[in-house]
Amino acid sequence: MPENIEPTAAFDEYEQAALNAIAAAGSAEGLEAVRIEFLGKNKGRLRDLQKLLGAADKQQRPVLGKRFNSVKTAVIQTLEQRRTELSRPKAEAVGVDITLPGTPVRLGRRHPLTQTIEEFKDIIGRFGFSVAEGPEIEDEHHNFISLNIPADHPARDPLENFYLATAETASGGPVLLRTQTSTVQIRVMQQTEPPIRVVSLGRVYRPDTIDATHCCMFHQMEGLMVGEGVTMAQLKTVLTMFASAYLGHDVPIRFRPSFFPFTEPSVEVDMLWDENWLELGGAGMVDPNVLRAVGYDPDAVSGFAFGLGIERFCMRRHQITDIRRFFENDVRFLRQF
Ligand code: DAH
Repeated sequence: MPENIEPTAAFDEYEQAALNAIAAAGSAEGLEAVRIEFLGKNKGRLRDLQKLLGAADKQQRPVLGKRFNSVKTAVIQTLEQRRTELSRPKAEAVGVDITLPGTPVRLGRRHPLTQTIEEFKDIIGRFGFSVAEGPEIEDEHHNFISLNIPADHPARDPLENFYLATAETASGGPVLLRTQTSTVQIRVMQQTEPPIRVVSLGRVYRPDTIDATHCCMFHQMEGLMVGEGVTMAQLKTVLTMFASAYLGHDVPIRFRPSFFPFTEPSVEVDMLWDENWLELGGAGMVDPNVLRAVGYDPDAVSGFAFGLGIERFCMRRHQITDIRRFFENDVRFLRQF
């Protein structure tokens, strides 16, 4: 180092260069290189300043020493600050304030009918019923003929059904959207020997005029129990226990005489809910003709069956007054369940 260098100027120049280099360092490695250059013990530029200090005359030394220390401290502190800055998450470096509250995540939830269906399966499963599935597009055989519904029955009127104009069965027969889950009874019995205890839950379709209590698509839970000595008393017990389990307290069940082609005797089922009788659906003892059609011997086995409207339970429980709400997909409605 030349003798004639003015130490104060050298300190200023060192400080300025060091601070500039620190500010310009874009990474931890870059900053480390700056540290070695300006503060390094062996060849660092700080050593040159130290030498200047050593060469200064005795009178100047205390003042210069002070200046030396303050420059050194400033450089070290700035370097430490920059090191902390560089170690922060990148997001902050581009100006995102990670302390601000985030965009809330909206959780979806299961549709109220899906919740009801799951609950139904759970309850009826405890009575030993397993779940069977069946197609929503059916042939006349499963939807009518095997269920003992004759060709001239009003239920087969084309105006009461959604026949599919563009499709037919392999054998050329017409196909339609099922009007009842009773079709699954036939499928199960065709494939299984008694004893049977199944339910099937799913959509059914009818060209009804849509209003607060009717929809052209709704859900049913079909039940079927076949075996030796199955009785109507058991039917009533199962339905009573089912409704009581769903509502959480004892629920009276009422049977009213009715008619269905596939049951004999047939009943309409009502349950007492808040002092009103609510119609749940139909039920009865499986007609011997139906048992015969699937190859069972009506003298050896008997069975009961029921078909309940799922929307009714759900509407009643949640005080929903319009069935259309279920199918409009309005999240303001759906979010409430
Ligand atoms: N399938 C009937 C309906 O949709 C309800 C029904 C009645 C189902 C009697 C049954 C039954 O299984 O035995 O109206």
